[in-house]
Formats: sequence, structure tokens, C-alpha cells
Amino acid sequence: MKEVEVKASTKSYTVYIGGGLLARAGERIRAIAPKAEKAAIITDDNVDVLYAESLMASLEKAGLTAVKFVLPHGEESKNGLGYLAIVSFLAESGLSRSDALVALGGGMVGDIAAFSAATYLRGINYIQMPTSLLAMVDSSVGGKTAIDLPAGKNLAGVFCQPDAVLCDMSTLESLPENVFRQGCAEVLKYGILDDAKFFDYLSEKGLGFDREYVIARCIEIKRNYVLADEFDTGIRRKLNLGHTFGHAVEKLSGYTLSHGESVAIGTAVAARAAAKMGYCSEMCAGKIETALKAFGLPTETNIKIDEAMPIMLSDKKRAGSLVNIIVPETIGSCAIVPMGVEQMKEFFSKGL
Ligand SMILES: NC(=O)c1ccc[n+]([C@@H]2O[C@H](COP(=O)([O-])OP(=O)(O)OC[C@H]3O[C@@H](n4cnc5c(N)ncnc54)[C@H](O)[C@@H]3O)[C@@H](O)[C@H]2O)c1
Repeated sequence: MKEVEVKASTKSYTVYIGGGLLARAGERIRAIAPKAEKAAIITDDNVDVLYAESLMASLEKAGLTAVKFVLPHGEESKNGLGYLAIVSFLAESGLSRSDALVALGGGMVGDIAAFSAATYLRGINYIQMPTSLLAMVDSSVGGKTAIDLPAGKNLAGVFCQPDAVLCDMSTLESLPENVFRQGCAEVLKYGILDDAKFFDYLSEKGLGFDREYVIARCIEIKRNYVLADEFDTGIRRKLNLGHTFGHAVEKLSGYTLSHGESVAIGTAVAARAAAKMGYCSEMCAGKIETALKAFGLPTETNIKIDEAMPIMLSDKKRAGSLVNIIVPETIGSCAIVPMGVEQMKEFFSKGL
């Protein structure tokens, strides 16, 4: 078992990474929220049939009354209707401020459940129990909560750190291989951003990497960005590598491309553009693309720049007339480059 401490300015909590956490979740949640009498599990229909029963049993064993709300799986559920259904369920179930919510699932469940916990009664305790690789290494840590709006992804949300994150590695056994690979787009991101040795390790090992080591290392890197800039006004923006173009690809595909696949395409486009514009070497861009392909991730798109531009300009990372674009410089170092509309259009056109 590995533990990563996150001492954010608004809350300190521990991320636990190991096996058997699901069966012992009740005890931990009791310790984290000692006044809780009830715990609401929020999950999706795929994860529900696999893990909700054992989580429920563990909560009940620890003396908590457990209730459960199940969303249909997929990004389409991460919207206003899903959010209203969850908070209404919490109210109907009589959850009070001292009770707890447990987000059991991938990043979709984690984001909408956390937004519900952050806003229901102006905030109740919540615990992230990520069951996808992407949710373990990224979305469950750092306190970004969100739902999508028709205008774009993650456009409504608040910052609210969880009270704990329990990554039960054994849940990854049931994760479909393609979904695991999609999570690797965010794993590679940490190497490109911050740690060349880690990137080389991943490139060498491919999908056979040591899961506990890799997940803990990703969480440590993310934790460092979160502590340096909890509210995403500066250096934390680097975690958006591949996301500005990626979110446009994801939306234009009608969410048929997953978040991870879209980020992989966005990262490859940013790397190719960075090489052509002289921010990084051709070799650096080539290494990024080769690594993405080695994990079976897509690196090309037939989306046209004019289709992507309006979506990228409505991105929440925009500040006035400028959008902060994350640009690879070397493996292990990226820059934040504020770009105006024309510069951005030129940059991304070069990467397509
Ligand atoms: N808050 C943040 O900081 C942040 C960061 C990155 C991504 N995100 C968000 O995360 C979401 C993507 O997360 P995701 O890739 O986990 O997608 P997801 O939650 O949609 O899960 C992908 C699929 O895997 C299934 N699944 C999850 N765990 C499983 C398991 N153990 N066994 C079998 N099936 C399982 C789900 O039911 C779903 O069908 C997006 O909404 C994205 O915006 C948020």
C-alpha cells in the first residue's frame, strides 16, 4: 500500500493506493467522517454491478446506513439533469451535513458526484473511490468538480477537495483494456510535463508497467501542481497539456471519442505544432507521438481547424482575448504560452 499526502490550503487528505481498500472502506470513512450516520454511494451502472454491493456491506459493517444512486454510464450522464437527480436523491434520503458521499467509479462519476457533494447543503464530506486508471491518476485528486453544459465540457463546477481518495487497485482488473489504455494518455502527460525518467520508464515498459508505482508517481506529480496552485490560476494549468484541442475533438466527436483518446490526439497535435513552431525539437515531438502510439492511443484527427476554433475559444482556460496553451519544450518540461486567436489558429493548424 502506498500513501500520498495532499496538504492543500483548503483541506489536507490522504490518497491510499493498494489492494483490498473496497472491503475496508467503511472503517476508513468512519474515521474520516466520525459524525456520519449515513453514506450515499454514487456510481454508474457498469461499476454498480461489480463493486457497489461490497462497498455497501463494508459501510453497513462500520455502522453507516448506506444508500445508492446509479447513473447510466458514459459522459452523457455528466450534465445538469444528472446533477439535479443526485442532489434530489441526497435530500430524499435525508443526508445531513455531517454525512458522507462516496463517488465509486471513473472520472465521470467522480466529477458529477463531487460537484453534488460540494453544493448539496453547501458542502458535505466526500470520498473518491476511483475505479478507472484515469480517475486514479487524475480526476479523483485535486478538487476539480464539474458537469458539462451543452456549450462545452466541464463548464459548471467548483473547487472542492475530497476528504480522502481510496484507489483500490483490484478494481482495475475488470476495467476493459481499451479504457485502461485511454487512462495512459494522462499517465504519459505527467512524464512529458515533469519527469523525463518516468517518461522513459513508461516508453520502455508499455502496458506492462508496475501499476502501484506508476499510479502513485502520477498522483505525486499532480499533488505538487495542486499544492503550488490550488485554484488553477498559474502553474497548475500545465496539467491541461493536450486538453484545449482535446476537448474540441471530444465534443466534435459527439463524445464517441473518450476523454483519454481526445487528450492523446490533443497532445500529439500540440507536440507536432510545437516542433514546427520551434518550441521543441522534432525528436521531442517524435518521442511523444511514438509513446502515445505504443499505448495504442490515437494521434491523428480529420477535424478541421475552423471547426475546432470556436470550441477552443469557449474553453474555460481562456483569459480575456488570450488562451493559455501548454507547449512541450523538452520531455519533462512544458511552457504556458498565452496565444491570441490568430496565433492559436496558426499553432494548431501546424499540428494537424
Ligand atoms: N476533475 C478532474 O480533474 C478531471 C481530470 C481528468 C478527467 N476528468 C473527467 O473524467 C472523465 C473521464 O473519466 P474516465 O475515463 O474514468 O471515464 P468514465 O468515468 O466514463 O469511465 C469509463 C468507462 O469505464 C467504466 N468503468 C469504470 N471503472 C470500471 C471498472 N473498474 N471496471 C469496469 N468498468 C469500469 C465506466 O462505467 C465507463 O463505461 C471525463 O468526464 C473527464 O472530463 C476530470
